[in-house]
Amino acid sequence: MQIVSTIKEMCSISEGVRTAGQIIALVPTMGYFHEGHLSLMREGRRRGDVLVVSLFINPAQFGEDEDYASYPRDFSKDKNIAEGIGVDILFVPTVEEMYPEGYQSFVEVETVTKPMEGQFRPTHFRGVTTVVAKLFNIVRPHSAIFGEKDFQQLVVIRRMVEDLNMGVEIIGMPIVRERDGLAMSSRNTYLTFEQRKAALNLNRSLQKASQFFRSGERNPKRIIEAAKEVIEREQDVTIEYVEVRDAKTLEEIEIIREEAVIALAMKVGKVRLIDNLVFRDP
Ligand code: PAJ
Repeated sequence: MQIVSTIKEMCSISEGVRTAGQIIALVPTMGYFHEGHLSLMREGRRRGDVLVVSLFINPAQFGEDEDYASYPRDFSKDKNIAEGIGVDILFVPTVEEMYPEGYQSFVEVETVTKPMEGQFRPTHFRGVTTVVAKLFNIVRPHSAIFGEKDFQQLVVIRRMVEDLNMGVEIIGMPIVRERDGLAMSSRNTYLTFEQRKAALNLNRSLQKASQFFRSGERNPKRIIEAAKEVIEREQDVTIEYVEVRDAKTLEEIEIIREEAVIALAMKVGKVRLIDNLVFRDP
């Protein structure tokens, strides 16, 4: 596995790979790898002749009061894991490399970034789309793989790629969960033993919603109420939002007819967790 830290070297490798007619798959990450990241890498391995994984903790997508400084980092472990999966290139640029002095260009996707995460993290998606656009320009992948864990992020990136004619195939992969149902996340490491127990209510509430849906309920309001009721059984948790929206457009819906998603965010103590579930007709 090659470790590349400059944009210049990454561009020149991509150029060579493309000229040779080979396919590049990219998995963008912020590191501290868990099975969720690995499932994306395995899919990338299947799809690309050359698999590039980027590891960059992107300051532009963290709000002022958020956890940029304390975001978990373990480069040597990540390096070994990536090597074990068969990653060809681990692209690890520095912040100065990605945002040099004088930097002033940003990519903004408008409507789909506004609800849900956008309400609580108003500058977040601007940072995500900017860095992903930059990574696409540098790595020039044929396909890029993202997780449904960050469901809105996936919808936003699909929108950006279509609107700006980026010509990258976007692949969405299912959420990987711990055995007890908690969606894997680098941020789970912040949870104390007690908080981790409380966090299980997130998935439990989705299971309740799913049960409702399977029994024929199609009214988002009633599904949301049932999900909230499960979360509120825990003391140390505060709900930021629970929403049911169209899975493709993230528009609000009165009744579930097409594929819909229930997405939620809550805080356990100071730790912010998100999760979601797509309602698919059997
Ligand atoms: P990060 O949180 O490191 O996640 C990298 C990728 O892994 C994202 O596509 C995310 O959706 C996926 N992922 C995380 N947990 C997952 C899980 N439990 N199951 C399946 N996939 C999971 O998301 C980001 O980084 C950044 O915003 C990034 C896209 C790299 C831009 O900076």
